[in-house]
Amino acid sequence: MLNARLGTRPASPPRPITGSPSTRPRSPSGAYAPPALPNSFNVHNNNQGVLVSNYTTTQAGAPIASDEFSLTNGPDGITALHDRFLVEKLASFNRERVPERNPHAKGGGAFGEFTVTEDVSKYTKAAVFQPGATSETLLRFSSVAGEQGSPDTWRDVRGFALRFYTTEGNYDVVGNNTPVFFLRDGMKFPDFIHSQKRMGATGLRNADAQWDFWTLSPESAHQVTYLMGDRGISKSWRHLNGYGSHTYQWINAEGERFWVQYHFKSRLGVELMEAAEAERIAGADADYYRRDLFEAIANGDYPTWDVSVQVMPYEDAKTYRFNPFDMTKTWSHQDYPLIPVGHFTLNRNPRNFFAEIEQAAFSPSNLVPGIDISPDKMLMARVFAYPDAQRNRIGANYNQLPVNQPHASEARNYQHEGQMQYQFNAETVPVYVPNSFGTPVADPAVAGEGGWESDGELIRAAQTLHSEDDDFGQAGTLYREVFTDESKARFHETLIGQYSALTIDVIKARFIWYWTSVDSTLGATIAAAVGHGDQTANEAAEPVGTAV
Ligand code: HEM
Repeated sequence: MLNARLGTRPASPPRPITGSPSTRPRSPSGAYAPPALPNSFNVHNNNQGVLVSNYTTTQAGAPIASDEFSLTNGPDGITALHDRFLVEKLASFNRERVPERNPHAKGGGAFGEFTVTEDVSKYTKAAVFQPGATSETLLRFSSVAGEQGSPDTWRDVRGFALRFYTTEGNYDVVGNNTPVFFLRDGMKFPDFIHSQKRMGATGLRNADAQWDFWTLSPESAHQVTYLMGDRGISKSWRHLNGYGSHTYQWINAEGERFWVQYHFKSRLGVELMEAAEAERIAGADADYYRRDLFEAIANGDYPTWDVSVQVMPYEDAKTYRFNPFDMTKTWSHQDYPLIPVGHFTLNRNPRNFFAEIEQAAFSPSNLVPGIDISPDKMLMARVFAYPDAQRNRIGANYNQLPVNQPHASEARNYQHEGQMQYQFNAETVPVYVPNSFGTPVADPAVAGEGGWESDGELIRAAQTLHSEDDDFGQAGTLYREVFTDESKARFHETLIGQYSALTIDVIKARFIWYWTSVDSTLGATIAAAVGHGDQTANEAAEPVGTAV
């Protein structure tokens, strides 16, 4: 109540803080016993992590009056809106989440070190791949379709997003645990992800939608064969290989260009988890893979991947039997054998999952001199998609966050301001370029961009077919020549289970057509097992105009 005469508050005694004694730690003697203090608190504040005072503060650094009690009109009265401590705490809590990644929301990761043990300098001038070079790395594993809280062991492709903090800037290879992908044009990606995630009406995932999309997009057959096979559920993130999946470009010091495919092979080997076990673990421990990786690293059991590349001379791309820019295809290892490069080891868990893993912003557009993209339509779409997603997901200045800043080089440009600007140029640096003050300007010779020849009318069309290109050939080879008898038996069982979840006849028929097209014996095996006998329906189900 205001003091009527002076218009000020009457002096009041200091407000007592009367916490329940039972909530306070007590020593065996019953006396209040504070736990041991940590010697550091905020690791990124100005005091470099040294705890200078033992009281809490607001975000602006002023002492907080209570961590436990709101400001009320008497012990049982209404809460004051001007309780700045309560308001800041609740407002901060309301903003703790950033939107989850769409897709690849569930994941985990760790830091490590990459070492080049071989000499591939005749193919690329990139500092990260020069003999003896070492770089700090960050690897994030993920599953594609599930949300943040989804079980790790659901059948899915696993993301394998690898960052090298190089002396020439951050270089990201954002790949998967399979060497191919479902699609060959970025235009279809949102539809693909929609078909795998939850339906608009029901909020449920839907087998009909998944198989409707896949069977109407037969270019998916190679990747779906991987997905329904043993690679669809790994024993752990440590037991899977990574692939760049796309064709990338390497450029050497003489400006010569090559096409490359990355292979990251786990020294623990590729090991599967049986479907029944995966289902059990999905219920018992949704974070199984995340926990496994964290605990392995915490225990000093550091996983290592060997890095190798397939290299294709620039001119070969024009005539190779498979279009090398079609990411539903692999290159034969007989044609282009693996060339070893080095290895990387994960040896450091994040100190803070949100700051260093959730806010990690990987992108195929993070390239360095001597490495570039290829005319793969998926890759060209991805170069746009990731930074755009991250500006939305994290904020305009996401690259200023510690995990996304260059660690072994420096960001120098005239981009500035925007939400959450943290870094800024010296006051003597103009805010524009070109300028008359001798500050940095672009140097194309240092940037070392690649490129390719291209002409022709602007059209919308499928990629050019090479002599052996089709939708099903490599999927059939994978099934017949790579899968063991045991893998085949598990694969059949998985497909039979998938069929049994379908409810729409035309999709069931197309399912049988799809697998018959991969391999006629496979199709017949599945059809017989599920009692699907009408082959005329299968022929009628063949989608028109979708093949390359
Ligand atoms: C045109 C096709 C594609 C588009 C538009 C696309 C888009 C996206 C987007 C928007 C994200 C979330 C990024 C973020 O919020 O940080 C993402 C994550 C991811 N994507 Fe793609 N994607 C495409 C194809 C692919 C392909 C072909 C691969 C693998 C070969 C792939 C692997 C990944 C991985 C591993 C992540 C998670 C990265 C992380 O761990 O932060 N994506 N994708």
